[in-house]
Amino acid sequence: MEKKAVVLYWSRTGNTEKVAHSIEEGLKEAGVNVSLMKIDEAEEIDYFDYDLVCIGFPSYFWHTPKPVSDYLTKHFNNHRRQGKVKWGSPKVPGKNVLIFCTYSGPHTGIDEATPAGDYVEQFFDHIGFNILDKWYVLSEFIGNTAASTEGRMGDIRGLPTEDELNKVKEKAAILSERL
Ligand SMILES: Cc1cc2nc3c(=O)[nH]c(=O)nc-3n(C[C@H](O)[C@H](O)[C@H](O)COP(=O)(O)O)c2cc1C
Repeated sequence: MEKKAVVLYWSRTGNTEKVAHSIEEGLKEAGVNVSLMKIDEAEEIDYFDYDLVCIGFPSYFWHTPKPVSDYLTKHFNNHRRQGKVKWGSPKVPGKNVLIFCTYSGPHTGIDEATPAGDYVEQFFDHIGFNILDKWYVLSEFIGNTAASTEGRMGDIRGLPTEDELNKVKEKAAILSERL
């Protein structure tokens, strides 16, 4: 049966949006029925209507940007009201999530992105979703040249490149085999 996925994202300077589009393309080419939505266009969706939810955001101060944490909290509270947050958080068969985070790591590298991914993971783990993966995509700090050239990750201008975005696309297609 055809699998259904949604790619949800928030992006201010376009990096996360590029990655979201690549994931959408990869899933589509693998035959998945996929919709792409900015989180502010996706207020009403129910994660449980999908076999796969992909959710993407940039790291802001090693956390999620406020609109993203507000979105996740609102949906979590709805699920709690619906009795979907159970003691022990048993896995719900067929419900999967992919978390993706773009980051620039100017100070401490990927360690200033992973806490954001771990935080988002908990919202889905609590409602029994299977965490397929967490992807961290190194990206230019658009609008901040010093952070894009002098940081721990070196010269990150132009990232993610077309080549890297193609790899994301391929990885998304491979991931769909696990649905
Ligand atoms: C306010 C602000 C805070 C940021 N904080 C971090 C951070 O803590 N760690 C990090 O690796 N990158 C940080 N960044 C860089 C962004 O995470 C990175 O450039 C990201 O790819 C931007 O995504 P977008 O283009 O989708 O908005 C920050 C950027 C901004 C604007």
